[in-house]
Amino acid sequence: MGKEFDSTPQQVPAVATAYRTICTAVPHPDSLQHIERSRRFEPLSMRGMPPIVWDRAEDIFVYDKYGNRWLDWSSGVLVTNCGHGAPEVRQAMIEQIQSGLIHNYVFPSEERPALAELIASLSPEPLKKVFLLSSGSEATECAIKLSRAHGIKVGGRRKIGIVGFERGYHGRTLASQQAGGIRGQKEWIVNLDPAILNAPFPDGYWEKDSSFDGFLKAIEQGGMKPEDIAGVIMESYQGVGPDFAPVPYIKELRRWCDEHQVLLTFDEVQSGFGRTGKFWAFEHYGVVPDLICCGKGISSSMPLSAVIGSAAVMDQFPPGSMTSTHSGNPVCCAAALANIRKILDEDLTGNAARLEPVLREGCLEVKRRHPGMVGHVTCSGLVAGLQTIKADGSPDHDLAHRVVELCYQKGLLMFAPVGAWGQTVKICPPLTTPKAALEEGIAVLWEAFDQAVAERSS
Ligand SMILES: Cc1ncc(COP(=O)(O)O)c(C=O)c1O
Repeated sequence: MGKEFDSTPQQVPAVATAYRTICTAVPHPDSLQHIERSRRFEPLSMRGMPPIVWDRAEDIFVYDKYGNRWLDWSSGVLVTNCGHGAPEVRQAMIEQIQSGLIHNYVFPSEERPALAELIASLSPEPLKKVFLLSSGSEATECAIKLSRAHGIKVGGRRKIGIVGFERGYHGRTLASQQAGGIRGQKEWIVNLDPAILNAPFPDGYWEKDSSFDGFLKAIEQGGMKPEDIAGVIMESYQGVGPDFAPVPYIKELRRWCDEHQVLLTFDEVQSGFGRTGKFWAFEHYGVVPDLICCGKGISSSMPLSAVIGSAAVMDQFPPGSMTSTHSGNPVCCAAALANIRKILDEDLTGNAARLEPVLREGCLEVKRRHPGMVGHVTCSGLVAGLQTIKADGSPDHDLAHRVVELCYQKGLLMFAPVGAWGQTVKICPPLTTPKAALEEGIAVLWEAFDQAVAERSS
């Protein structure tokens, strides 16, 4: 968050294990030219990741050109659920490219409805219509639009309120960022829409009160009434963690939405497609939303996202008026079809569920070793987060950053720390990860935390 990793080549101890190889200075001096070119020609915002120039990525590994190989705990950014560059996904894309059809806008094709049908078959009743888009932000923007349109239809022009959650994240476009709850990221908007509110997110850690009253109060404090609200949008788990809301809270929320004709959207952009040990993360709550937004793990590769809902909600706009230039690009669809089949055929969701206790225990061990420095630890399937704290309990971005840096130097790859204060070391390996690789990664994580903490006291 806002801080760069040092890209000066560092001589670090060599690593040669079953899952990691570090055999040069990192980053390799020859790769600096690419980092410098990126600095020159890309915006500042594109910096901030550990300085590996990716050459290729296969299954659970990321390689540079110089013989180094990282065990991946990033999945890109929770994208490569079925592994990086899965042969089935690549083959499907090659065949699609060779078929001669690589773009067809909204004209009919075979691939788009085939994917829509497969996704619909994996979604609960009555969510059987699937609108394909390109990015997660587009999907959440679309869910907000569908919710407002529906609100106006059932309650008139005052029923346009959207409730998101504090510390939530739904993307960086206008409405998605407003519905999200990271204050610092909204300063550029200035004239925030007064009908887009944030309620406290009941994670039980930063927000101690996990009763549903907090939600009702937020609406009241925003000067609105239930009849003014069109939609509620919530990540199935908040990405900063994974932080889930308590099940009774969500059951109450579902009941409240039904009572007031409010559409409930679960944002599954990072949590869907098996990540948490269930195909959809909202299954942990035992309720069905009105809209699902998904992306990332949908294709394990190509830019694709989807909004899923009932016909009543999805068919609100007439022909030609809810489209996007790249809606359901055929190469992206081919990749997604192969990816989803692989997730199902190889029971990668089950693998995530089976490995959850190993990952959770590994993370809790870090907290046991450094109780005053690791505050909140959460894990679900193959996603976990360790939130680092200072002595006064406030978030400690520097510690999280150093841990990620040390892991990178030891051949374990994570993206930069996340969370409203950049305090979370986030672990999200591909769902193809075997137990032995996960255990090796955990041992590296322990080493990195021990070292980062020891540096503090030296
Ligand atoms: C929960 C959630 N929603 C939406 C988005 C935005 O997706 P994209 O970056 O594809 O626009 C993200 C991306 O990290 C996300 O994690």
